Amino acid sequence: MSNLSAIKKPIASEIKAYHKVFKSTIRSKVSLLDIIMKYILKTKGKEIRPIIVIYVAKMMGEISETTYYAAALIELLHTATLVHDDVVDDSNKRRGVFSINALWKNKIAVLAGDYLLAKGLLLAVETNNPHLLEFVSRATRDMSEGELLQIEKARKLDISEEVYFEIIRKKTASLLASCFATGALSAISDREAVEKLWHVGELTGIAFQIMDDLLDFKKPSITGKPSGIDIKEKKITLPLIYLLNKSNALEKKKIIRIVKKRHQDTKSIQLLIKQVRESGGIEYAKGKMIAYKNKAIDLLHEFPDNEARQALEQIIEFTINRKN
Ligand code: IPE
Ligand code: IPE
Ligand code: MG
Ligand code: MG
Repeated sequence: MSNLSAIKKPIASEIKAYHKVFKSTIRSKVSLLDIIMKYILKTKGKEIRPIIVIYVAKMMGEISETTYYAAALIELLHTATLVHDDVVDDSNKRRGVFSINALWKNKIAVLAGDYLLAKGLLLAVETNNPHLLEFVSRATRDMSEGELLQIEKARKLDISEEVYFEIIRKKTASLLASCFATGALSAISDREAVEKLWHVGELTGIAFQIMDDLLDFKKPSITGKPSGIDIKEKKITLPLIYLLNKSNALEKKKIIRIVKKRHQDTKSIQLLIKQVRESGGIEYAKGKMIAYKNKAIDLLHEFPDNEARQALEQIIEFTINRKN
């Protein structure tokens, strides 16, 4: 099993350099914003995206200042989407502590998320790296579309496996894809290689989100986020889609009724989660996740073998073995 701190060790000084950029970028003279930004700094996440940016640059050539800017830019956008996501999902916990919306209310969280997004984009412009913007703007657009498509489907509750994959490709995989693309862009200019690495990131991101959805079926103490929240938010993910596809019309109707009408009823949700487990939905989703992970690694293997590539392979493995 891959361990993230072992993966981080060889790039400790690069991570330090990236932290410096990230920290200095989110300062604000508005004291309320500054307090929120300090809170965010204290509760940083796994930082898997900046780690990827750094290793991809290393695999393809030399790390440059642009690598650090790209890493910070992506983590800023990622943080912005998490702050917004907890408003959208009405979630009061993030990274084991209270979410911004839980502490400061929704309107403040929305504006703080906008601030993080703007600061990220400005970082690319102010450091004279506008070429990074193509990929990250695309990802930002995709993430909004993915989240809204998810809401649309949560309203109608008519989600198919195909649409599920479209949602996760947009809301999660697009940003992981830009980690690979911008990391490469900070070291090389070969467009074809950049596009191919973008695709490695996309496959990784799909596996990553299936894992996230599987973690929602686990205990909250493990993940630092509430669990069972997806069904509560009428979000139908792969394990539940599998159960629905296996059920007859009457059973299907019953399940949909629980998701639609009993989504605040913890007991009904727990029963439904049990039903998903017993149907083999978890194993089914795991199978799909492993297939995407393997495709990502196969494509990564088209690049020259070096220590950075091996680290990237471990990160891809980590995305599906992680506990939070
Ligand atoms: C969470 O991403 C949001 C998803 C795309 C599923 P991470 O699991 O990378 O979040 P942090 O940054 O480590 O908290
Ligand atoms: C992840 O969405 C956030 C984005 C990709 C924008 P989720 O709602 O599925 O993720 P968590 O579980 O809250 O991190
Ligand atoms: Mg969400
Ligand atoms: Mg959420």
